[in-house]
Amino acid sequence: QHCFAKPEDGYLYCEGIRVHEIMESVERRPFYLYSKPQITRNVEAYRDALEGLTSIIGYAIKANNNLKILEHLRQLGCGAVLVSGNELKLALRAGFDPTRCIFNGNGKILEDLVLAAQEGVFVNIDSEFDLENIVAAARIAGKRVNVLLRINPDVDPQVHPYVATGNKSSKFGIRNEKLQWFLDAVKENPNELKLVGAHCHLGSTITKVDIFRDAATIMINYIDQIRDQGFEVDYLNIGGGLGIDYYHSGAILPKPRDLIDTVRDLVLSRGLNLIIEPGRSLIANTCCLVNRVTGVKTNGSKNFIVVDGSMAELIRPSLYDAYQHIELVSPPPSDADIATYDVVGPVCESADFLGKARELPTPAKGSGLVVHDAGAYCMSMASTYNLKMRPPEYWVEDDGSVSKIRHGETFEDHIRFFEGL
Ligand code: LLP
Repeated sequence: QHCFAKPEDGYLYCEGIRVHEIMESVERRPFYLYSKPQITRNVEAYRDALEGLTSIIGYAIKANNNLKILEHLRQLGCGAVLVSGNELKLALRAGFDPTRCIFNGNGKILEDLVLAAQEGVFVNIDSEFDLENIVAAARIAGKRVNVLLRINPDVDPQVHPYVATGNKSSKFGIRNEKLQWFLDAVKENPNELKLVGAHCHLGSTITKVDIFRDAATIMINYIDQIRDQGFEVDYLNIGGGLGIDYYHSGAILPKPRDLIDTVRDLVLSRGLNLIIEPGRSLIANTCCLVNRVTGVKTNGSKNFIVVDGSMAELIRPSLYDAYQHIELVSPPPSDADIATYDVVGPVCESADFLGKARELPTPAKGSGLVVHDAGAYCMSMASTYNLKMRPPEYWVEDDGSVSKIRHGETFEDHIRFFEGL
């Protein structure tokens, strides 16, 4: 069961409510529309898959940092994966248990590490200087920090180069030839560092679970080596990265259960606790960006649908050439023909597109058009370019009512940055 569906009547529904009606009832467009029940179902898919293992589902906050969504994920039992001090503060605000949070990053700064040390979050060591900073933070906080070594397993995730992280030329993690240096450094700082496990993150939008199995096999080998030196490590963190069906092609893609099943025997064979760090696969398919069609135009042989949303609200197509499925929210006029359209926004850039070469019925002016799978890395990567201001967010609740879960930013918000200067 998926939250968005278009039955015979040609209207798009979210949990049984016409998106068109929601679009007409809210104060402004574009806006993000989520399904709260779909978020629940996505977490349950992971929870069911993880049965029989001791585990932490560390939701990667970077994918979507809406406070209401975070509170919901925390209530469902998730921990959180953080990449900045502000993400840590937000996780605390949302009520996450800091001992189920993991602080990642190749450039963590001292003051954020001090907060992490004070709160007792797991910290992944990324480099020599990062280790030094973690030691310094532990001393300032007067706390021993639970650390994992972020090891670069050098596995090709077969994804866009911008979202590959676990291959050998990546800026993230440490390489195997340096492992001994890090183990010695941990031993030299017993009051500051407690090595509890190993971490890797291969990349994002991964659609083959064999890749996770290969990486987990390599990581288990590292854990054996680390244990051989007397460390009692008992966490394996395999990161996030599971992809979703952006194409809506009906292709059978691996589900959370396939991911967990492919590493289960390895984890059990060493008596490990498993940490996973999903972002996209928990939140992407729970949301659409809802736009209104401003107009349709043709330049030579090119047809354009111009909508009010843009690369400012949703940059993934412009940045990664990413495909996100697009459809109209209501049936087109009966005489509408079907043509090949680029769906573009009003921003003054040719990179401003939401979709290219899409076969779509010619929409009526003022009608609604959605970009699907917009729950991950869309709002969290939105900007205010061209003073578009970040859009409001809504969700459909469990009882079918629609609530606002974030205010849209306004012109006044922009002016506030200059007050008193
Ligand atoms: N853990 C670490 C260490 C990460 O770097 C990431 C994502 C995740 C977990 C979550 O990965 P996920 O399950 O969401 O794939 N902006 C890009 C994606 C960047 C991903 C960065 N790291 C996009 O829009 O596709």
